[in-house]
Amino acid sequence: MSELSIRNERESDSARISEIITLAFENDPISNKREAEIVQLMRDDSALTISLVAETDGKVVGHIAFSKVTINDEFNDWYGLAPVSIEPKYQNKGIGSKLIKEGIKLLQNINAKGCVLLGEPGYYQRFGFEANQQLVLPGVPAEYFQALSFCDSIPSGTVKYHQAFG
Ligand SMILES: CC(C)(COP(=O)(O)OP(=O)(O)OC[C@H]1O[C@@H](n2cnc3c(N)ncnc32)[C@H](O)[C@@H]1OP(=O)(O)O)[C@@H](O)C(=O)NCCC(=O)NCCS
Repeated sequence: MSELSIRNERESDSARISEIITLAFENDPISNKREAEIVQLMRDDSALTISLVAETDGKVVGHIAFSKVTINDEFNDWYGLAPVSIEPKYQNKGIGSKLIKEGIKLLQNINAKGCVLLGEPGYYQRFGFEANQQLVLPGVPAEYFQALSFCDSIPSGTVKYHQAFG
């Protein structure tokens, strides 16, 4: 694998990003297979606050998106990480970790107060994400809904992602 670089997505990346997302979630039993469509809908709505790609071997092999979330229907500088996708043959090489760390850094640069995600606790706790009782995503097991706060407190309430998530 040649040296990895991470950069913002460009307009010309969108088809390749959809392909990577589709491949990454293809064999995930809990995926609704809407992840690529969700990213495209958010892109069309200018709702991708941060959309990064990872490139190596002369091609894009990974992608991560962050978008605004509301807590009790108010936006208070919290964001959602979703989805993060690595082309299967490039998984487990540290690319997902690099995208997540870079995304977190960029969120802090725009004065985000925190970030939520739905995912495997065993993976995301290494970045500081933790399940907590204050933030609720209805309909999902609480231990999979995790938050990383960039300030002293974590708000309480019901979290809603962009409408593209349905
Ligand atoms: C999850 C994903 C983004 C991780 O990226 P990656 O580049 O493969 O992971 P990294 O190389 O940074 O980290 C590897 C570690 O993650 C763990 N890991 C990878 N996928 C995991 C998963 N779905 N659940 C739990 N742990 C996982 C590996 O076991 C490995 O653990 P270790 O460091 O303790 O050995 C990537 O595997 C992927 O695209 N998966 C399919 C799509 C998906 O599930 N996305 C997340 C939900 S939005």
